[in-house]
Amino acid sequence: MADKKIRILIVDDIPEARERLQKLLAFEPDFEVVGMASGGREGVRLAIELQPDIVLMDINMPDMDGITAANELRRNAPTVGVIMMSVQGEAEYIRRALQAGARDFLTKPPPAEELYATLRRVAEDVRSMTVLVSSSDKKEKKKLEAQDDHISHVIAVYSPQGGAGKTTIATNLAAALMREGVRVLLVDCDFQFGDVGIFLNLKPQATIVELIRNVDDLDIDLVNNVLVTHDSGLRVLAAPLRPEDADYVPIAKVPALIEKLRSVFDYIVLDMNTRIDDTTLALLDMASRVLLVLNPTLPALKNGLAAMTLFNGLGYPEEKTLLVLNRVTPELERSKVTLAVNVFEQKLRRKAFAVIPMDEKRVLFAVNRGISVIAKDRHLSPARDLIAMADALIASLTPKQEPPAQQPLPAPAKPPSSRLGRLLGGG
Ligand SMILES: Nc1ncnc2c1ncn2[C@@H]1O[C@H](COP(=O)(O)OP(=O)(O)OP(=O)(O)O)[C@@H](O)[C@H]1O
Ligand SMILES: [Mg+2]
Repeated sequence: MADKKIRILIVDDIPEARERLQKLLAFEPDFEVVGMASGGREGVRLAIELQPDIVLMDINMPDMDGITAANELRRNAPTVGVIMMSVQGEAEYIRRALQAGARDFLTKPPPAEELYATLRRVAEDVRSMTVLVSSSDKKEKKKLEAQDDHISHVIAVYSPQGGAGKTTIATNLAAALMREGVRVLLVDCDFQFGDVGIFLNLKPQATIVELIRNVDDLDIDLVNNVLVTHDSGLRVLAAPLRPEDADYVPIAKVPALIEKLRSVFDYIVLDMNTRIDDTTLALLDMASRVLLVLNPTLPALKNGLAAMTLFNGLGYPEEKTLLVLNRVTPELERSKVTLAVNVFEQKLRRKAFAVIPMDEKRVLFAVNRGISVIAKDRHLSPARDLIAMADALIASLTPKQEPPAQQPLPAPAKPPSSRLGRLLGGG
């Protein structure tokens, strides 16, 4: 950092304001003003051309305001850090600036020390981000290629119902699939409101946006730089950090990205969003297993039935689409819902693959600490049920070998522990 000057572009329509900033910056040896613009439009053009580390951007300008310009830069020069400046320091201005992708906000005229400190901090941030994303360019690239002999399974965790427990099931399934020598990746496919990061207390520096941008030219270093590693060792591909950044994920390219990542992982668990569109269908198509997560409530079961009917219509084999009932309570076993579950089961002629009990305390405890539910009290429900589900899934995906005649057969997957589970197919 110290050996390289921080390159700054000043964008302000008032000449005196530009000059003041230029003079202040001239006092410090680590700053270099590489250009000045008197409006947003010119500022965007110069930023794309000069690729400075930082743009000091005024908000109120006549031709193109700073917010619009910052949004343009986010799209066209994402590695440039924008610091927004405005005479108005109200919360609403700051909120709009940050929403537009600004990395910081200064009230005009900024005191020298505050200006210097903010510039250095933001430059540090954007440079580490740029290094992260482009480090692979400097090395010899190890391209991601499909490997014919490598078996990799995509497991999609889907529900037509919001809040059914997809993220809970996906994070725990991914954690439970991890074992020595098995490479597991969890992908947050909820591009607008993905919360895997919150569930696992991750602070991703880069997200799927950086990988998708380079999907046609992916190499292993870039992938490793973008994935974030949870304390447990689980690798995670995070969703965009802000809902509006979902626009930067050309979703049609997501299946191609997952296809490439298959060469590096044995299991890829997808935490899907509820929407069914062509991308969702392409991801479901490539999955070896689709876990349909439903809460045992009448509306959820109705929508679940529709989703399962759709999967059947798509020609998915029965062993591919698995019903997972989540948040099951003992009271439900005696209720009308049990009846509905039975109807569901009869209509589709299939048993629930897993039944996960409701346990507010343990599930909340895990989320609040950023760990998986299965990290604690593994022998107790619901951790035990989640682990049994992962084991059963592995067993169903592992090609069965004829055991030698005198050796005992491997033990069958543990049946669900609750009564409802047994009722629905546990045995
Ligand atoms: N078995 C369970 N017992 C108790 N609480 C649970 C259980 N499963 C999930 N929850 C809680 O229910 C809420 C919703 O779960 P989660 O976020 O996993 O659902 P989701 O389907 O991913 O939601 P979204 O549609 O918002 O992505 C969370 O607060 C979670 O802690
Ligand atoms: Mg979720």
